[in-house]
Amino acid sequence: MYGFGDMIKVLKKSPKKIVFTEGTDPRILEAASRLLASNFLHPILVGNEDEIFDASEESGFNIRGAEIIDPAKFDRMDEMVEMFCELRKSKGVTPEQAKETLSQANYFGTMLVKMGMADALLGGATYTTADTVRPALQLIKTKPQNSIVSSVYILVRPRATGENEVLAMADCAINIHPNEDELAEIAVEAAECAKIFGVDPKVAFLSYSTFGSGEGEDVDKMRNAAQKAKLRAPELEIEGEMQFDAAVSPRVARTKCPDSKLAGHINTFIFPDINAGNIGYKIAQRLGSFEAYGPILLGLNSPVNDLSRGCNASEVYSMAIITAALA
Ligand SMILES: CC(C)(COP(=O)(O)OP(=O)(O)OC[C@H]1O[C@@H](n2cnc3c(N)ncnc32)[C@H](O)[C@@H]1OP(=O)(O)O)[C@@H](O)C(=O)NCCC(=O)NCCS
Repeated sequence: MYGFGDMIKVLKKSPKKIVFTEGTDPRILEAASRLLASNFLHPILVGNEDEIFDASEESGFNIRGAEIIDPAKFDRMDEMVEMFCELRKSKGVTPEQAKETLSQANYFGTMLVKMGMADALLGGATYTTADTVRPALQLIKTKPQNSIVSSVYILVRPRATGENEVLAMADCAINIHPNEDELAEIAVEAAECAKIFGVDPKVAFLSYSTFGSGEGEDVDKMRNAAQKAKLRAPELEIEGEMQFDAAVSPRVARTKCPDSKLAGHINTFIFPDINAGNIGYKIAQRLGSFEAYGPILLGLNSPVNDLSRGCNASEVYSMAIITAALA
């Protein structure tokens, strides 16, 4: 795996600034204090300075040196409001509405990235996924060549040999019912992201059917999506539709689809919808002993990532490094 050591090396050469929208959360403060003790990633904490220092004292984490930005005292607020209105002009947002929205740390933090005051954002320790992701969708927006923002989880488990087994699963967190074109885009983005983590992507579109063994609309959707993904990225190794057992077990693959050269060796899994994806990665995490990193958002102009509300400080620290490294 392209590990944290490699990412830290890259960040040391070109240090980045990362916004944390939940400046008083003890897990954020612990991760920020660890980052401050190193010199490769500079944390910006959003919130009231007194409240942040009180919280850091209470939780015992030293955040001296952290940049704290309070939306209520921000000296470039007029500029931010103007930019926000411009970005949301299709919705007819007034300066008063913009000010109100920007008093919320999730929107304010996202605008710090948009204004170039930070390179990346990590939120979601207390905000829901929707409240962390929505400002990014509305303000950071999708890259010109992308039509959607999606997400991937990177799953890591040590092998007996000592090296890591690394898998990618998408989209387990953002798009609820992706259509064929969206699934094709998700697959290509997930495969490209998997490469950053040292995966040589072998992509399967998962279904309850393997190459026509079952029938139904959802089977057709995954088969067509696989074809579309192949057209989009002919250089990638992609197959489908395929059942999970055929994807991962060479023995099952020999029986169910002996002509497939990828079946049995899949490491990048594309799920038909968020239900399947979210349940699937959690089975790998909870019953398969994989560490899960993500959701890593794909297709945004600048990196923004969402934490699980059940996260711990060490996960915040890891996700901060991954997020900044993507910048
Ligand atoms: C991503 C998500 C949060 C967006 O929800 P939402 O804000 O209610 O969605 P809306 O349809 O109101 O869209 C809000 C804006 O984001 C844009 N948008 C929505 N989904 C998008 C996507 N996948 N990619 C790019 N833009 C998107 C919309 O076009 C809209 O833009 P606009 O305000 O400029 O018109 C929603 O898809 C969601 O809740 N997904 C599941 C999240 C979840 O619970 N995950 C499980 C736990 S990890």
